[in-house]
Amino acid sequence: MFVQVTTDLLTRGGKDIAFSDFSPLWKSHRRLVHSSFTLFGEGTHKLQDIVDSLCEELQGSGGAAVDPGPAVSRAVTNVVCTLVFSSTYGRHDPELAQVMDYNNGIVETIAGGGLLDIYPWLKVFPSEVLRKLRECISVRDRLLTRKLEEHKASMMEGAPRDLLDALIQAQRPQGQRSAQQEGEGLTDDHVLMIAAETFGAGVETTSTTLLWILAYLVHHPQERVQKELDEVVGRGRGVCVSDRPHLPYLDSVTNEGLRIRPVSPVLIPHTALRDSSIGGHFIKCGTRVLVNMWAIHHDPKHWEQPDLFKPERFLDDKGCRVTPPSFLPFGAGPRVCVGESLARMELFLFLSSLLQRMSFRLPGGAPPPDLQGRVGVVLQPLPFKVLVIPREKGQT
Ligand code: HEM
Repeated sequence: MFVQVTTDLLTRGGKDIAFSDFSPLWKSHRRLVHSSFTLFGEGTHKLQDIVDSLCEELQGSGGAAVDPGPAVSRAVTNVVCTLVFSSTYGRHDPELAQVMDYNNGIVETIAGGGLLDIYPWLKVFPSEVLRKLRECISVRDRLLTRKLEEHKASMMEGAPRDLLDALIQAQRPQGQRSAQQEGEGLTDDHVLMIAAETFGAGVETTSTTLLWILAYLVHHPQERVQKELDEVVGRGRGVCVSDRPHLPYLDSVTNEGLRIRPVSPVLIPHTALRDSSIGGHFIKCGTRVLVNMWAIHHDPKHWEQPDLFKPERFLDDKGCRVTPPSFLPFGAGPRVCVGESLARMELFLFLSSLLQRMSFRLPGGAPPPDLQGRVGVVLQPLPFKVLVIPREKGQT
């Protein structure tokens, strides 16, 4: 992948996964990260607690119009903190606020660093963007280094609790043979950058997708998805991961959100490893290639009325799931999103629990959420307000 001034600073020169060049080292580190995400599969109760807190917070708005953005980002950040270093924070915890602060700072400065990335020589001049980015990175690195040291001191061999433990275990020579091989060349710098990237790649993407879906659901009736939830789960118990196969309409709403507003409209920049061609165009080795996912997801040759929000396009006439070939919200091939399963699990648990327990309506006199969005590091909806109407409990 192509390393630029801002991302170079952010990743210590590509010691992460997303901005690291294709190499055997990248491949083994990616495999390691992928397998450690599966640890979370057993820890869904932790995720469930975070989902419950988000629902309680929104339901506690007491009939006032509320912007769901801050609560959603806090919940998603909390999921990543749990996954990376096993800390699940309360709503007002200062450490959670610190993580959110530096994360937002990084996202804003990366989005504003475009000129520096086009003209890298500009970095010799004083720049407010670079100053802020360096400051956020140093807060981030201090916190993650402390967590790493605490984990090194407290981890039990063979029983990784989270991503940091799994990475430390792979670094140690007494680790299992396969883990040893995967951990080859895995320095502390790599461990820190991989952990940091999980925030960069996992927070903004997931929370923005959730907010886009909520924005569209304020424009469109929520009744069908709530009817499906009432029939399959009822209101007497929480939704769990094993309900997902029985909730195809909810999945199709999620897919339609991911299609119509891909958070990463041109994915992450790629670099051609050899001379090749795409669609008959010659691509010289080393060329930077951007994939226009927006165009793929809005191509009228593949999507009927692509600008309309129509979840039904992901269902056949019997109501079973279909996945059209031009639906690629997580990319494709060897660089496909490594957090896809985790993201899908989060999107499912958050959306299903929210819609089971409450409805979202437009506050009287307020304009409906803007659906154009603004382009930053990801394509984000503008802030919008909703009325949260709790749904009756206990009904089956
Ligand atoms: C709705 C949520 C998400 C969406 C839509 C999304 C989408 C994407 C896309 C489009 C790419 C780039 C693929 C390419 O350029 O070919 C990517 C890469 C990546 N994503 Fe995600 N992602 C999401 C959540 C996550 C989460 C939760 C994590 C980790 C916790 C994550 C970690 C990564 C990493 C590490 C890469 C780089 C993979 C590589 O270069 O090998 N993502 N994601």
